[in-house]
Amino acid sequence: MKFFIDTANLDQIKEAQDLGIIDGVTTNPSLMAKEGIAGEQNILDHYKAICEIVDGDVSAEVIGTDFETMVKEGEMLAELHPQIVVKVPIIREGLKAISYFSKKGIRTNCTLIFSSGQALLAAKAGASYVSPFIGRLDDISSDGLQLIEDIRSIYDNYDFDTEILAASVRNAMHIIECAHIGADVMTGPLSAMVSLLNHPLTDKGLATFLADHKKLNG
Ligand code: G3P
Repeated sequence: MKFFIDTANLDQIKEAQDLGIIDGVTTNPSLMAKEGIAGEQNILDHYKAICEIVDGDVSAEVIGTDFETMVKEGEMLAELHPQIVVKVPIIREGLKAISYFSKKGIRTNCTLIFSSGQALLAAKAGASYVSPFIGRLDDISSDGLQLIEDIRSIYDNYDFDTEILAASVRNAMHIIECAHIGADVMTGPLSAMVSLLNHPLTDKGLATFLADHKKLNG
């Protein structure tokens, strides 16, 4: 399973890259705003800066909600860097845009997926990735991981090439379960990835090793 980091924060992206555990980055307009990135040129420059830090795919989201605007923005984003994947919401005009991009060889990430029907439509339109939001479904007492399982089974039935990018990942168990189910990618905060490291027996074992070494070596 590929690990993408879900942030527009350059320091966090560098930190994750240095740990050697990330395969790409996802952003969204809220994450860009959180970093205070505003204005077309600043936004484009920021995406470029992200692409220079990581080797893998970088999702950059369109703001327009009509076909023409999405196409204009998506083409501009795709031209920016070969690692850019154009993120498009699962709305009627979005489907048309995904289909257009797919025919032009521009890769897409269809976002805001909350049902397997939406994921099926995105795959039919030729999305490269679909982003089902696990955490936000859990937030409303729905089962986010069940959605990943449902989409996996539907895509496998028909050999769709669309990759399942489990998004809105919040914790270590989300990551482990996504790996069990067979999500192609998960995207989440660095804190969730790093929490996979934690085990009390590792800490205890290391403390004993170091103490035993110290007894004879000072
Ligand atoms: O980038 C989309 C998704 O990962 C958002 O996550 O935590 O805001 O629900 P979250």
